[in-house]
Amino acid sequence: MSDARRILIVDDDESQLRLLRTVLEADGWTVREASSGDGAVALLETGAEIDVILSDLIMPGMDGRGLLAAALERWPEIPFIIMTAYASVDSAVELLHAGAFHYLAKPIKLPELRIIVRRAIESTETRRELVRLRRRVGLPSDVVGVSRQMREIFETAIRVAPTATPVLITGETGTGKEVVARAIHAASGRTNFVALNCAAIPPSLFESELFGFKRGAFTDARRDHAGLAEVAAGGTIFLDEIPEVPLDTQPKLLRFLQDGEFRRLGDNQVRKSDARVIAATNRDPAGEIAAGRLREDLFYRLNIVLIHIPPLRERAVDVPALADHLLKRLADRYQLEHADLSPDALAALTAYHWPGNIRELENMLARALALRAGKVITVRDLPTTIGRGAPAAGGLEPGAEPATLTLEEVERRHILRVLEGARGNKLRAAQILGIDRSTLHRKLKQLEGVAALQP
Ligand SMILES: Nc1ncnc2c1ncn2[C@@H]1O[C@H](COP(=O)(O)OP(=O)(O)OP(=O)(O)O)[C@@H](O)[C@H]1O
Ligand SMILES: [Mg+2]
Repeated sequence: MSDARRILIVDDDESQLRLLRTVLEADGWTVREASSGDGAVALLETGAEIDVILSDLIMPGMDGRGLLAAALERWPEIPFIIMTAYASVDSAVELLHAGAFHYLAKPIKLPELRIIVRRAIESTETRRELVRLRRRVGLPSDVVGVSRQMREIFETAIRVAPTATPVLITGETGTGKEVVARAIHAASGRTNFVALNCAAIPPSLFESELFGFKRGAFTDARRDHAGLAEVAAGGTIFLDEIPEVPLDTQPKLLRFLQDGEFRRLGDNQVRKSDARVIAATNRDPAGEIAAGRLREDLFYRLNIVLIHIPPLRERAVDVPALADHLLKRLADRYQLEHADLSPDALAALTAYHWPGNIRELENMLARALALRAGKVITVRDLPTTIGRGAPAAGGLEPGAEPATLTLEEVERRHILRVLEGARGNKLRAAQILGIDRSTLHRKLKQLEGVAALQP
């Protein structure tokens, strides 16, 4: 752990800023300040060395959420603590999912603050190490993901890449299993990547496709033939839809995984290949074992390193970055003029549940890019299934509020509920509430109160 302890406090509230500065300086921290997300980014851009960021959630201009997203993308090694007065469990969990190191509920309790910032700085060194590692090994830049879940996957991918261990990747269709497999391969230093979709090969041909055959092994076998296991020597073999491997071939695959040995069909000679196996499935392996389609011993051998890619709806914070990346890629591929998303389109995409995951997002963007009415892609360029009208999650029905609440408390609860429903999007929340954005901002500030520091 380094002994320099530099913290950046971001808050538009002068008095709060002063209080936090006093407390942390007394604890030996070097404090830098910014009064907005933009100010914080500007400071970080000057190359200021910061070990921890402590930011308010609600600020004019770039707010805490925006700053968190920017920091994760550009300074991922700096732990980010967010302060919020309306830390309902959902928004707190969402922030943690979005990659925040921790959140502090206002009014801030000093002992808690001290513990959290200390823990944050202890994590900085580990993060720096990972970032260095990532830069050195280099996952391909076309693998996008800022969510905590994806960053964990990238870390696992980097750690496992240089080894020969098999990897099993699970996840719904279109979540990026092949993308992650290729990323592991790219970071592995291995030569070629050979992909085999086990579902696309007739069962009778599977074994010869994978392990090859000897001349005369069957009627059409006119000459010796090397299988993919041999072709992928020194490289990676990607077996997609692994439960589709015919049951009688599974023990042979198991043996190959255990000691790299196999035989071409009709041949007695035992051959060896050091090809590394990455397997994938969009089904639940346990269910496949129970149904008798996947041998348990093969599963255990593959399951040494398991990477589960969560569906896109569970990591909605990845949607903006993915949409941006995919739009650029699509524009290049189809030679179309690049287009950005309007805020309402982005909000609709982020709120949608994506049964087809990233592939569905990509298809939807391809269509919007080709058919858009104006320069920017708006909600109207998206299919009617998404975005329009669907009330934000979180339910706006009048809650079962006890009749003893003050008007102020009812207002507070209602605002927070609407804000939750709008996933923290203040513009949308203000629209639903029928007030303008600055009024909402003022009300939120009032709700927070000038949080007195409680010892
Ligand atoms: N993290 C990511 N960054 C950028 N693009 C991605 C990412 N994940 C997926 N994609 C894109 O989404 C599409 C689907 O990805 P991929 O083919 O890897 O999914 P899959 O999980 O293998 O799907 P299936 O189960 O249907 O085979 C591809 O066009 C891929 O480039
Ligand atoms: Mg696939």
